[in-house]
Amino acid sequence: MGKLANQIAVVTGGATGIGRATAALFAKEGATVLVADIKKEDMTDLVNDITSGGGSAEAFEVDVTDDKNIQRFADHIKETYGKIDVLFNNAGIDQEGGKVHEYPVELFDSIQKTDLRGTFLMSKFLIPLMLENGKGAIVNNASMSGSFADLDRSGYNAAKGGIINFTKATAIDYGRQGIRANSVSPGTIETPLIDELAGSEEEDQGKEFRESNKWLAPLGRLGVPEEIAKTVLFLVSDDSSYITGQDLIVDGGLTAYTWPGKMVMDNSWKETTE
Ligand code: NAI
Repeated sequence: MGKLANQIAVVTGGATGIGRATAALFAKEGATVLVADIKKEDMTDLVNDITSGGGSAEAFEVDVTDDKNIQRFADHIKETYGKIDVLFNNAGIDQEGGKVHEYPVELFDSIQKTDLRGTFLMSKFLIPLMLENGKGAIVNNASMSGSFADLDRSGYNAAKGGIINFTKATAIDYGRQGIRANSVSPGTIETPLIDELAGSEEEDQGKEFRESNKWLAPLGRLGVPEEIAKTVLFLVSDDSSYITGQDLIVDGGLTAYTWPGKMVMDNSWKETTE
């Protein structure tokens, strides 16, 4: 029997990247997966893949910035499934905006609105279904950029740092009700978000970005969505039954450095595992 047999699991931002890989893994582990995203076509394709492989999934066009939309989604889950066991708050956007004094207010607001406020809204409207069920497990997708900073990306750093501490708040609010909440903090993972941020693998800038990330990660490569999916599965399954309020960084060791001193001096940082 799968680790999530007979469970109802919601994955936001499930149409592509990390969310898509996690939705597929949850379904493989026996969950009925409710995929929520603003990209309808990509979700239809994912749901077909899952159901044709014998799994169970349904797609919902949900915008995590829209509380009325989320309320309708919660109502539908209650009427159709009666409960929710797992919530993966994964939907997120990222964009460079320049140094703090140059950073556009609208960009700052839109990143908070999707990444941080979206995580709050989904939790606010779906936790009641976990409370009725008497248990639940939440994972919020933060980032290594939530504990450490990136040049020109203060909006994203603020939102992801907020998610890590919001997760702790959720954990202490609901521990007595059998609901656990943890965050996962990916390093650089090969997804469409990286194409948008840095350029695709075919473009010079995208190639350079990937190379420097490989050099900097002690494991010598970028991560893949399936590696984050496996971590999320661990955090929502009984395998982590005594873990709550924690942030788990999955970055190939990148944030383990104080600074990559000797490696820079003898140029060994250019040795990769790929
Ligand atoms: P992605 O761009 O492939 O997937 C993000 C998904 O979120 C997309 O399907 C998009 O349509 C959806 N989305 C965006 N705004 C939405 C909204 N308002 N309502 C509902 N859905 C919405 O990106 P990726 O890389 O899979 O990222 C997933 C999460 O992982 C994000 O929160 C991101 O910040 C985080 N992350 C990603 C890293 C990476 O290197 N790829 C590193 C650290 C964190």
